[in-house]
Amino acid sequence: MKHFLSVEQLTEQDMFELFQLAKRCREEITPFKKQLFAANLFFEPSTRTKMSFTVAERKLGLEILDFNPETSSVKKGETLYDTVRTLEAIGADLAIIRHHDDDWMETLTDHISIPIINAGAGKKEHPTQSMLDLFTIYEEFQTFKDLNMTIIGDIKHSRVAHSNAKALEKLGANVHLCAAPNFKDHSLNYPYIDIDQAIKQSDVIMLLRIQHERHQHLSETSDYLKTFGLTRDRENMMKDGAIILHPAPVNRGVEIADSIVECERSRIFKQMENGVYMRMAIIKKLLQKWGIE
Ligand code: CP
Repeated sequence: MKHFLSVEQLTEQDMFELFQLAKRCREEITPFKKQLFAANLFFEPSTRTKMSFTVAERKLGLEILDFNPETSSVKKGETLYDTVRTLEAIGADLAIIRHHDDDWMETLTDHISIPIINAGAGKKEHPTQSMLDLFTIYEEFQTFKDLNMTIIGDIKHSRVAHSNAKALEKLGANVHLCAAPNFKDHSLNYPYIDIDQAIKQSDVIMLLRIQHERHQHLSETSDYLKTFGLTRDRENMMKDGAIILHPAPVNRGVEIADSIVECERSRIFKQMENGVYMRMAIIKKLLQKWGIE
């Protein structure tokens, strides 16, 4: 693994090794011995991913090159490739990148000689979010085999849905999708079911935000909760032991009722906490592959 770009490059064994390493990172922190610089290049807004990478890097003893595209030479037209090549030249040992282009990785991977971690690629992939989601599910159920999993919401515009559906299938879960007609993505080859069927059968409900920023027209949301969202009545009908995930940020009162965001079944803030340990694990594993201990 030269770079960490997609869940598709991970085997089942790689994923279980990352779960174990994330657990160890929670119990005991072993910082890197030599001075290392991590460049956090976020070309799209982020709270969780950026901050949890920052905490993960600091816990591992890395020094952070914090980058703001608004005050950088990107404003003068510098490309992503030249930006990353520059950071590499001035001493970055690792680049964490989020960018609005679905395929930004393609311009970099063969030409950049430091490890790159994908922190979000357009509508296509969000592999570190996927790994922290899987870690959260694994901690809860200790298996994925035959677990009923439904991803509900704006699937068409969600990089999380794309990464998670593929990874969950690889691990043996039964993946279903549920979406309003204009949020369906038929390039994902999983069955669509209606919201009430999803509530009845699922061990894990994964809700997604309506990604207004990726829509051409503003979507109407006044009836969304009642028609496609997780209301209190629906939460009451979930299976015993079933849990709720959401990558966040959450639109309270749109895809999920406000009062359920922190209910007993919700693992939404647990996902954020797990994100720090999973990102520590991913950084450690990747740098080890490059011979950096
Ligand atoms: N889940 C997620 O990627 O959140 P941020 O956009 O805040 O990083």
